[in-house]
Amino acid sequence: MSIIEVKNINRGFGHGHGRIEVLKDLSLSVEKGTFNLLLGPSGSGKTTLLNILGTLDQPDSGQVWVYGDDITTYSDNQRNALRKTGMGYIFQSVALISNMSAYENVDFFLRINKINYQERERRILECLKFVGLDKRMHHKPSEMSGGEQQRVAIARAISHRPELLLADEPTGELDTATGLKVVHMFKKMVEDTGTTIIMCTHDRNLIHFADHIFEMEDGVIING
Ligand SMILES: Nc1ncnc2c1ncn2[C@@H]1O[C@H](COP(=O)(O)OP(=O)(O)O)[C@@H](O)[C@H]1O
Ligand SMILES: [Mg+2]
Repeated sequence: MSIIEVKNINRGFGHGHGRIEVLKDLSLSVEKGTFNLLLGPSGSGKTTLLNILGTLDQPDSGQVWVYGDDITTYSDNQRNALRKTGMGYIFQSVALISNMSAYENVDFFLRINKINYQERERRILECLKFVGLDKRMHHKPSEMSGGEQQRVAIARAISHRPELLLADEPTGELDTATGLKVVHMFKKMVEDTGTTIIMCTHDRNLIHFADHIFEMEDGVIING
């Protein structure tokens, strides 16, 4: 069963002679409960595509079905609701709140999602443990390495238990060993909980871990 269907989307930026077409008549289908890589060089359109899947941006034309609904017809409210309850998003730059500890960063996100105190506490501990940071939960981002901060961002993105996790180059700024740890963590999540993950990367070393690779070049999928 597919959780995402993209049909013939186009997305460009700018006007007149300065306009560039970034996604060109792109289609893809993602199976539920799989670990997918969106593989391509910098500038190939990965972030543009992921933002559209995450309802942060809209295509100029074409359709995007998520959980069987065409989200290009959604109102802002419907898009917000889907983002809050239906998906987790990990941004290319980590974007933790700097004056909050790891614990508080995850807690803040769950409070926005109106989860009650006891359930929040349970989930924060569970997610920080999952990413191996339960012992550092009271540390602030400035007291953690880049890899640890990235793992807090992952804990935050999975804390409301989304069925769909979108991750934009989450290993981009990590050393190879830490990057591999993150990818193993994603694979385990897919296996243990049936989450669907779509992760952007330009790193060919990660292709062995994925169930499916969509290879992008210059705004089109050339393979997958
Ligand atoms: N908001 C925007 N305005 C203008 N150009 C953009 C915008 N977003 C992306 N682009 C351009 O689209 C191309 C693809 O960018 P992006 O999707 O970020 O690629 P990737 O994530 O694969 O590196 C790049 O040439 C980038 O400059
Ligand atoms: Mg990008």
